[in-house]
Amino acid sequence: MNVPSGRARYRPVIAALAAAVLAGAGAVAVGKAPAQAAETTLRAAAAKAGLFFGVAASPGRLSSIVSQEFGQLTPENDMKPDTIATSSGGLRNTGNADTLVNYAQTNNMLVRGHTLVWHSQAGQLQGTSQATLNTFIGNALTRWGSRIAYWDVVNEALDDNNNGRRRTQWPHSLSRDANGDGDFFDAGDTDVIRNSFRRAKEVVQQNNLNTKLCINDYDVEGLTVRGGARNNKAQALYDIVRAYTQGTERLIDCVGFQAHFNDNPNSVITDDLQANIQRFADLGVEVHITELDIDDDLSNNDIGQGQANNYRKVVRACLNVARCTGITVWGIADSESWRSSERGLLFTGGSGNYQKKAAYSAVLDELNKGRSGVNPSSPPVSPSASTSPSTPTDPSPCSATVSLNSWTGGFVATVRVTAGSSSINGWRVTAGLPTGAAVTNHWSAERTGASGTVQFANVGYNGPIATGQSTEFGFQGTGAADGTTLTCTAT
Ligand code: G3I
Repeated sequence: MNVPSGRARYRPVIAALAAAVLAGAGAVAVGKAPAQAAETTLRAAAAKAGLFFGVAASPGRLSSIVSQEFGQLTPENDMKPDTIATSSGGLRNTGNADTLVNYAQTNNMLVRGHTLVWHSQAGQLQGTSQATLNTFIGNALTRWGSRIAYWDVVNEALDDNNNGRRRTQWPHSLSRDANGDGDFFDAGDTDVIRNSFRRAKEVVQQNNLNTKLCINDYDVEGLTVRGGARNNKAQALYDIVRAYTQGTERLIDCVGFQAHFNDNPNSVITDDLQANIQRFADLGVEVHITELDIDDDLSNNDIGQGQANNYRKVVRACLNVARCTGITVWGIADSESWRSSERGLLFTGGSGNYQKKAAYSAVLDELNKGRSGVNPSSPPVSPSASTSPSTPTDPSPCSATVSLNSWTGGFVATVRVTAGSSSINGWRVTAGLPTGAAVTNHWSAERTGASGTVQFANVGYNGPIATGQSTEFGFQGTGAADGTTLTCTAT
């Protein structure tokens, strides 16, 4: 069956998404915040800005506030394998999941399925084979079909402590790195991530589902961690998404940043959150904030304005990227959170009797401001984006173009390297940066220098490029990068 690519399918998805969240919200339009009165619920304000605002819940938490305030629902625990999977990949005990899906459908809410392939809460699937995982993926996807808008196909694949590696325990022990180079992208490698997405994509296509397939993780939100070091976990996730969306297979439709923000150095909110969302979005995938809660410690034991301002930052970062299409908080009230002592959510109270916190008002206000000029139905190219050709020699072994996403005082550059009339085994791109611009971070390339003339060279996996094919790398910096020149050399 001929299925449109993820990029081509983007516009209808957003249109359907907006229709779904608007239907229950009573709002009438999608776009920038209008001049008329501000919306009074998170759901309606988000819908007007062109994204969903959702919540994680269990059936016991389905009080009226859920459908009033939220346009999307994630089962907090009721679709995890330990609840619904049999040892042979069949389904069992789906009552709570059905209740949640039915509630969402009745109230015109989107559903995010959570989660299919995970090292934790695996229940009877623990230690099983890829074949059985594939059976489970097929059964779960077809049970609810297009009633589930987004599924977390693979959850928390990456290791902790910012080491940039994948987890080694099951199910990742099913993967094989044939040449031992540390990635799982080469011929001969097997990868539980790729194989699980392949199976999920096959099921979606065979059953003509609208369901989008997501990879979800935590501590991947910023380009950097506290202190400014590179966020290697985010980089590893980026490499995975890039590898499985930019090649011949487009396996991944969406990326979830869990966003459990707390005092851990790898879990803080950094100023480059938006830039990181943007670089994933530039791969053509939707980005979602999937499990948001913000520890009061991040604002000095403050569940008032400090926490509210942190919520503002996160919501604004998403709103400023067109393909950031949804935000989900991980529970309704502090007392009902998996981290209740950290008081990280938008309401106090409990059991259906809730009081709004300062963080709630901040989120509502930020949503009501809308996307600040980003058109949610347009491709995610900022008004300042520009493309400048390289000056290759002729015949050119390779060429390089840059796409800039700029803001006052900073930029993210995405560079596309394309092989010319014959394939190449490696490449070097020389970038001439304007005075005042300086590179602070980069990905998918080795770098020499930070300002003036800066050299980028391929890393292991993205050196070989076939005739006419492309690869991408990126860098982030301060200052203005308009006018950057690029020269590509085959190595
Ligand atoms: O329902 C039983 C109850 O009957 C029993 O008495 C009690 C005894 O411990 O356990 C209850 O189940 C608990 C369940 O939450 C419901 O409250 C489980 O023990 C507990 O392990 C489970 O925790 C969940 C956790 O995932 C498990 O890893 C949290 O609710 C849930 O919020 C959390 O969600 C995860 C995401 O799936 C993935 N990302 C991180 C996020 C936070 O850890």
